Amino acid sequence: MEKAINSLALSVLLLILFFSSSSAIAVNYNVLSLGAKPDGITDSTRAFLAAWTKACTSAAATTIYVPPGRFLLRNVVFQGQCKNNDISIRIDGTLVAPADYHVIGNSGNWLFFEHVNGVSIYGGVLDGQGAGLWACKKSGNKGCPSGATTLGFSNSNNIVINGLTSLNSQMFHIVFNRCHNVKVQGVRISASGNSPNTDGIHVQTSSDVTILNSRIGTGDDCVSIGPGATNLWIENVACGPGHGISIGSLGKDLQEPGVQNVTVKGVTFTGTENGVRIKSWGRPSTGFARNILFQHSLMINVQNPIVIDQNYCPDNNSCPGQASGVKISDVTYEDIHGTSATEVGIKFDCSSKNPCSGISLEDVKLTYKNQPAEASCSHADGSASGLVQPTSCLQL
Ligand SMILES: *[C@@H]1O[C@H](CO)[C@@H](O)[C@H](O)[C@H]1NC(C)=O
Ligand SMILES: *[C@@H]1O[C@H](CO)[C@@H](O)[C@H](O)[C@H]1NC(C)=O
Repeated sequence: MEKAINSLALSVLLLILFFSSSSAIAVNYNVLSLGAKPDGITDSTRAFLAAWTKACTSAAATTIYVPPGRFLLRNVVFQGQCKNNDISIRIDGTLVAPADYHVIGNSGNWLFFEHVNGVSIYGGVLDGQGAGLWACKKSGNKGCPSGATTLGFSNSNNIVINGLTSLNSQMFHIVFNRCHNVKVQGVRISASGNSPNTDGIHVQTSSDVTILNSRIGTGDDCVSIGPGATNLWIENVACGPGHGISIGSLGKDLQEPGVQNVTVKGVTFTGTENGVRIKSWGRPSTGFARNILFQHSLMINVQNPIVIDQNYCPDNNSCPGQASGVKISDVTYEDIHGTSATEVGIKFDCSSKNPCSGISLEDVKLTYKNQPAEASCSHADGSASGLVQPTSCLQL
């Protein structure tokens, strides 16, 4: 009997030791202690990679801490799979890309996470130093690298980005591709209004992505939504300058997954080229966009506040005269108001082969120079209710 009690006590003790040594105690790595230098000049890539390797190979919840200061990083891949599904990266400092844009300009991504699960980034400034590359592209020089995405996630699940600032990316700022369950909150993304292809957040082939309470102003789309995006929620975003929030371009490929269940609400567009846009190439495709809700949004001096463009064919190259195969259906515009910078505030230019269906306008009011703006519809079917100004041209 006494022996039994002793061995029970021993196993309880062992259990306590086991849990306290493995899962219960969070581990913290400060990149300074791994050799990073906060001087903005010394290459800290190896220190960040060392921190990542420690975090990734540990089974315990791990925090990588980046203190104040400027940390120069070349392009880095934070590679999974990891043992760890709880890695936090807390950043009080600024990560800086190399001033010479050639260093990362052909690498696709500057900071790239692949096959990770449960990675959260809190705070921090990412400075892509893209201005030199934008100038190269503007000069017409054919030798410019295409540019790197500042922060990319691919094939990853359960991602949180909270309170991050991304400045002057060479190309797109933040990209999610083949990701599931992503929460982006309180981010600020900024690049010059005439910087090329500097989209704020791009989401494709991903599900359950939420973007909240953020401020995005760039030279391209504030948020762009590519093929295969489903269950996407965007709320309380200030957009501008830029090209607005775009679903598309869709239908570039013949075989393409659709976009489904997207909600965009509480967005203020200021001086943007578009407000809410759906865009597809004028060529055959299996793609589609359906169950889309644009709600409670304000347009301030926006060139094309509400637009569906299914005849996108830049330079008339490889699609002249073709109709888009992309089927657009069940799109609701509700409580959208403000000012258009052009006469046409609502434009539905749908595919002659696959007309838009189930387009619904409810309480939409757009003015141009203090008069109701105009609406233009082609191959669009749906309904209007409540106050709709300009008067809807949807066939009833
Ligand atoms: C649509 O997406 C939202 C998240 O954005 C989700 O909560 C909801 O369940 C989805 N609806 C359907 C029908 O899948
Ligand atoms: C594009 O191609 C179509 C069909 O071939 C033609 O009618 C149209 O004028 C072309 N547009 C431009 C801008 O070249």
